[in-house]
Amino acid sequence: MNLEQLNSQIQDLKTNLEKDLESASDIANISTKYLGKKGEFKKIAKEIKNIDAKSRGEAGKLLNQLKINLQKQLSQASNIQSPVSNIDLTIPGKKPAVGHMHPISQAMEEITHIFEQIGFTRVRYPEADWDWYAFEALNMPPSHPARDEWETFFIDIPDTTKEIVYDENNPRKRHPSKAGGKVVLTPHTSNGQVREMERLGKPPIRMINIARCYRRQQDATHTQMFHQFEGLVVDKGINIQHLKGTLDYFASEFYGLGTKSRIRPFHFQFTEPSFEVDFSCHICAGTGIKNGEKCKFCKSGWHEVGGAGMVHPNVLKAGGIDPEEYTGFAFGWGIERTYTLKEGLNIDDIRLIYGSDMRFLEQF
Ligand code: FA5
Repeated sequence: MNLEQLNSQIQDLKTNLEKDLESASDIANISTKYLGKKGEFKKIAKEIKNIDAKSRGEAGKLLNQLKINLQKQLSQASNIQSPVSNIDLTIPGKKPAVGHMHPISQAMEEITHIFEQIGFTRVRYPEADWDWYAFEALNMPPSHPARDEWETFFIDIPDTTKEIVYDENNPRKRHPSKAGGKVVLTPHTSNGQVREMERLGKPPIRMINIARCYRRQQDATHTQMFHQFEGLVVDKGINIQHLKGTLDYFASEFYGLGTKSRIRPFHFQFTEPSFEVDFSCHICAGTGIKNGEKCKFCKSGWHEVGGAGMVHPNVLKAGGIDPEEYTGFAFGWGIERTYTLKEGLNIDDIRLIYGSDMRFLEQF
């Protein structure tokens, strides 16, 4: 055999391969036919020994090139016929980065759910409200020294008192001489108390009011904007036991079974008697001692979270409810404070919550 004849056989093989690829569907079979042990390529390759010695090198090159071309063509045909064959479907996919609710929004949802379980209704009232709802209706007249403690932001707008017309059917206009005047950025959620009494007209009341609050304060445990949640229950025969039962219920639902609540005498103008509310520390199980030393998280076994008390008769009167017939309890706590005391969080500076640092926020 000479080079010319070899070339002609190669051309024939190529033509046949093209035809097979056009008509046949099974690439694996075609591959065996051309590149298998007894395939067409091997048949031609065997002829090399019949080629004269001086042309054998050239013949070898032609055959090598033919083999490379065959492999390439068959591999391409295989990819076209089953394009997924080279994809490993078992490799885990890449998850796109998705955000999540801010930790305080998560806490608000959880707190709402806990109170809804025992019949409270979540309400919302203005965060810029009349001074009357934020203070006066709560038994705190303008000159009362207790108001200093609230370090309030006042909004500089014209006094609209005279424009408000008394309207018995519209709860927002039942206090013509009071629901005008100064407007404040609410320093606590207690403005919701009288608003809820007005909205419902008469008891029973079981509200949970969650809102932003504003005070002129800024340090590791205080921010100028923060959140509170306010509970208010008014009905016949409500007493301190109902308040204590509600506090214990919340403590074990929010912080886990075994967490206790404690009330200590205190003073608020709008409750009588008034209390400060503490929850037992989950780090030292309320003992104040951890590994033989003073618990660094609480120092005393307890964390103070906010205030509570029995609704003052003057507040009930301001909301149009007869204190001789009805009694009630109320409580108000900071969400940031309540939330950061949860097990495992141990955040020692609440300003981090509003710092917008993704490395911090992504942890929740
Ligand atoms: C009050 O605001 C009362 N209205 C609570 C209340 C409601 C008492 C109903 C009785 C009946 P106090 O000023 O203590 O109380 O605030 C309650 C909680 O709000 C505090 O314990 C704290 O957890 C949170 N808080 C107050 N100021 C800030 C602040 N600047 N930053 C973050 N949290 C705050």
